[in-house]
Amino acid sequence: MSLYALFAGKGFSGFGYGSTAEDVTAGLDLTGTTILVTGCNSGLGHEALRVLALRGARVIGTARTLEKAKAACASVQGDTVPLACELADPASVRACVASVNAAGLQLDVILCNAGIMALPKLQQAFGYELQFFTNHIGHFILVTGLLGQLTATGRVVMLSSAGHGLAPKGGIEFDNLSGERGYVSWKQYGQSKFANLLFAKELARRFAGTQQTANAVHPGVIQTNLGRHMNPVLQFLFGLSDKIALKSVAQGAATEVYVSVHPAVAGISGKYFADCNVAKSRPDADDAALARKLWDVSEQIVAKLP
Ligand SMILES: NC(=O)c1ccc[n+]([C@@H]2O[C@H](COP(=O)([O-])OP(=O)(O)OC[C@H]3O[C@@H](n4cnc5c(N)ncnc54)[C@H](OP(=O)(O)O)[C@@H]3O)[C@@H](O)[C@H]2O)c1
Repeated sequence: MSLYALFAGKGFSGFGYGSTAEDVTAGLDLTGTTILVTGCNSGLGHEALRVLALRGARVIGTARTLEKAKAACASVQGDTVPLACELADPASVRACVASVNAAGLQLDVILCNAGIMALPKLQQAFGYELQFFTNHIGHFILVTGLLGQLTATGRVVMLSSAGHGLAPKGGIEFDNLSGERGYVSWKQYGQSKFANLLFAKELARRFAGTQQTANAVHPGVIQTNLGRHMNPVLQFLFGLSDKIALKSVAQGAATEVYVSVHPAVAGISGKYFADCNVAKSRPDADDAALARKLWDVSEQIVAKLP
């Protein structure tokens, strides 16, 4: 635990910066629920897989390959189902959706945890900047494909980030989704996380009148494999600050797990959470027209993918 976490307070929910995924699920019996977690083989996703399964949920753990998903599921106790879901490959995402649908699995939670950050050089998938494609478009295909399997009170949880604040002016550069004009790694990461946030808010609007919910989460700042693309100086500084100010992986997984399963979050939708409490996001994340436009553009992109 970092020094900061030792002294950080708790919020309205009774949880806060120092709470862990085990803390926020203490006493909960998730037996009978089914939860899909993307990126289950590393960092926060692996901790979410472990703790949700520990509390009795059946957890469908997805990873880029079936081998990675199997290894992750085998490393935790409980009822787990490994599935491949390579978010940068629409065929893989669709196959994952088809497997869940074919098995008739009803999902209580879709936890969109997987992500990549700050790719130093422009990389693309199908002509789109890779962070936008992986973090947003891949999850867009997954969630929209699985909506028919979501239970009447089902929750969709998107891993955004405080980094959504780094998104360009206007939020999304619709005329530069290839990333070719003025590529800046953190700006592109910010845009992808802004897209995750807009998606949660638009989905929440589409859920209006139902008991299904969609929310977005900032997990905190945690030293995980996510930093693998950061330059060595930043990685060094990150390592130095770990014990002073960063969250542990157990603390980092708390907010996504809290929003996924805690009874206090039932019925809360369209919000942005940090430290297990509702938090403020960038004001333009509440621009409903922008979120609607992103949804429409995403549908058009997906329709043209092989
Ligand atoms: N750590 C932080 O400080 C922080 C802060 C803000 C937000 N977040 C968000 O939290 C989430 C989890 O991050 P983390 O810190 O746990 O990072 P991590 O340890 O790197 O885990 C990321 C997971 O996403 C998977 N992934 C990456 N690209 C993928 C793809 N194309 N298809 C399918 N899965 C893919 C990774 O698989 P591989 O292992 O196979 O690459 C891994 O399982 C991310 O969405 C991130 O943006 C993290």
